[in-house]
Amino acid sequence: MLDRRNHNHKKFMEHNAQQAQKEEIMEHTVQPSKNSTSRRSFLRQGLALGGAGAIGAALVANGLPVFAEEASGSLTQGDAAILRFLAAAEILETDLWVQYNELGGIQDSEVPGGSGSAAYIKALEVLDGDMPQYIHDNTEDEFTHFTFINAYLDSKGAAPVNLDRFRTLPSSKATGARHIGRLTNLMQLTVDTSWWTRYRSRTKNPDFGDTFPPAIPGLLKGQFPAIPRSDADLSPKNHIQAIANTAGFHFAFIEQGGTSLYPSLAQRVTSPEVLRILLSIGPTETAHFQTWHDKAGNAPPLRDPTNGLVFPDLNAPPFGGQDFQTNLIMPEPTIFLSRKFPVVSIIRPTETVGAAMGALKALTADGLFIGQSKAFFTVLSELAAWQHKQMRPNAGNTATRQSDVGARTNDDVGADHGLCSL
Ligand SMILES: [Fe+2]
Ligand SMILES: [Fe+2]
Repeated sequence: MLDRRNHNHKKFMEHNAQQAQKEEIMEHTVQPSKNSTSRRSFLRQGLALGGAGAIGAALVANGLPVFAEEASGSLTQGDAAILRFLAAAEILETDLWVQYNELGGIQDSEVPGGSGSAAYIKALEVLDGDMPQYIHDNTEDEFTHFTFINAYLDSKGAAPVNLDRFRTLPSSKATGARHIGRLTNLMQLTVDTSWWTRYRSRTKNPDFGDTFPPAIPGLLKGQFPAIPRSDADLSPKNHIQAIANTAGFHFAFIEQGGTSLYPSLAQRVTSPEVLRILLSIGPTETAHFQTWHDKAGNAPPLRDPTNGLVFPDLNAPPFGGQDFQTNLIMPEPTIFLSRKFPVVSIIRPTETVGAAMGALKALTADGLFIGQSKAFFTVLSELAAWQHKQMRPNAGNTATRQSDVGARTNDDVGADHGLCSL
């Protein structure tokens, strides 16, 4: 599978180089129409906005632009931008899931790489005996998500996304992990577990501006590993169990993000076929989330003696009850669109405005990109910002009107988005 992936990446890189060359010729021979957004004019605009001209120039010099290629065929620029952002998100998801699979999953021909860490697997299996299988299956799904979306972009003459040059972060030194460059960092996570209380609330919805307390407050108060950093992390028992517990909650954090991202972006898609892609991939993220939501509830209460991280008993006071009870794993019905409607069991949030930036911001706050280069943040924020520029509030959308009152807007999300100021 990796060989096939490398082959695909090679193809995409060749394609990107060809596209850049084609565009160069076009720029010299064709006066661009007023409404067209060439890659170069986008770069000028985007980089002027971000003030990262040198980085942008380097990207062009490499001949590997990953964003704002002109869409062609039947894809609109907006649809292509949405697919590119999703391809990037799926590549990042794949990178982190691969790291989990090398140490805690099943390494086979479907998901090769690594040889497992017996002590880490044993701790994960406290959450569920099938954890290695689930980790394997989630990892394989992510491979197929980005590979499919990139192949679809390619088939429409639009540039696929390739982040290979940013595979620079270190691997775990624990026995069982490969020693290769990574896109994401699983060893300094600050995991937001407010999804836990968000999906248990019967009266609140983030699309109305509501906020939710974390299930595991300690995970927001530091940087914690979700995989063993080295074999020194395999003991004492409550330390490796805390690492496995952190992973258990992180799995659900990642997948609830995808669960919201697809329906949020689907509202802005114009092509029925692109809509079909989003509506067909999105619910698999929900299937992952539902599984991990259940498993996280099995994480044993403990205190990590090495750093004081506490996993409380979520079924006992001051926790417990509607907001914390561990077997409430299905979305409680809550308010949606307007308080005048009856409550309904739904995915939340699904606000479309600022969704891409919001997702990027959440992944950054999670600590996944600690150690990444400025160029990496520039590319990712441009992928999100390009779509952000395309998106305008939809006057006919009740949800958007409703959210104008209490929820996020594009500008709100952009304004407090650290990436925008790079
Ligand atoms: Fe995915
Ligand atoms: Fe996913």
